Amino acid sequence: MKVISTVQEMVQASRQAERPLGLVPTMGYLHEGHMALVRRARQENRTVVTSIFVNPLQFGPQEDLATYPRDTERDLRLLRDARVDVAFLPNAEEMYPPGFCTFVDVQGVTSRLEGERRPGHFRGVTTVVTKLIAIVRPDRSYFGQKDGQQVVVVKRLTLDLNLGTEIVIVPTVREADGLALSSRNAYLSEQERRAAPVLHRSLCRAREVWEQGQRDAEALREEMRGVIAQEPLAHLGYVSVADAGTLEELRRLDRLAMVSLAVRIGKTWLIDNIVLDGGEKEP
Ligand code: PAJ
Repeated sequence: MKVISTVQEMVQASRQAERPLGLVPTMGYLHEGHMALVRRARQENRTVVTSIFVNPLQFGPQEDLATYPRDTERDLRLLRDARVDVAFLPNAEEMYPPGFCTFVDVQGVTSRLEGERRPGHFRGVTTVVTKLIAIVRPDRSYFGQKDGQQVVVVKRLTLDLNLGTEIVIVPTVREADGLALSSRNAYLSEQERRAAPVLHRSLCRAREVWEQGQRDAEALREEMRGVIAQEPLAHLGYVSVADAGTLEELRRLDRLAMVSLAVRIGKTWLIDNIVLDGGEKEP
């Protein structure tokens, strides 16, 4: 596995790589969720590039950039074992050199849900994803359903700007108790960790009433709020039942819908979602 830290070297490696080439963008501290993306990319491409870059642009001033968990040695070992061809680890200076002043702004879908609570977050995501795609020139790019709004935003971005990479979405990987794997789960105390599966329980409840035929979106939201209210450590951020393409809130469940929520447990902001698409279990 080549470990590359400069843009110039990465551009060169991409030019010489066997095609198709798959890109898996990450912020490191890799877990089984990330590795599901890597494995899928490995199955589908001749060359696999995984980037590890804790992107300062997508963290708000009050957010956890400084404390975001990192373990580069372990990450590289996992990527080597998964037969990744190139690990791309630029530093912030390399990605945002002095004078940098161009940003990518996807409108509409970024203004809701996470975007509403984390101003500037998606501008940071779309700017870095555009740069990574411009540098690596992947045939396919891999993202996790875990970050449901990010999926919608990145699909919109690549379509609108003709970035010429296929977006492949990988289902959410969960712990045995339903908690979606996330680097931020490392922040949870033991007690908080025991409370965290409440997000998944709430989504399961929504799916259950939907399977029983409930098509009123507010009824689903109400069920979800009810489940969260039963967990004293959980503080509800939002529940949403939205059009899976535009993220506009629905009144009736009459089309593909993303059911999502955000909950704060202690100091940790947790998100999760499912897609209801007419009977399938996962998107
Ligand atoms: P990060 O949080 O490191 O996640 C990298 C990728 O792994 C994302 O596409 C995310 O959705 C996926 N992922 C995380 N947990 C997952 C799980 N439990 N199951 C399936 N996939 C999972 O998301 C980012 O980084 C950044 O915003 C990034 C896209 C790299 C841009 O900086």
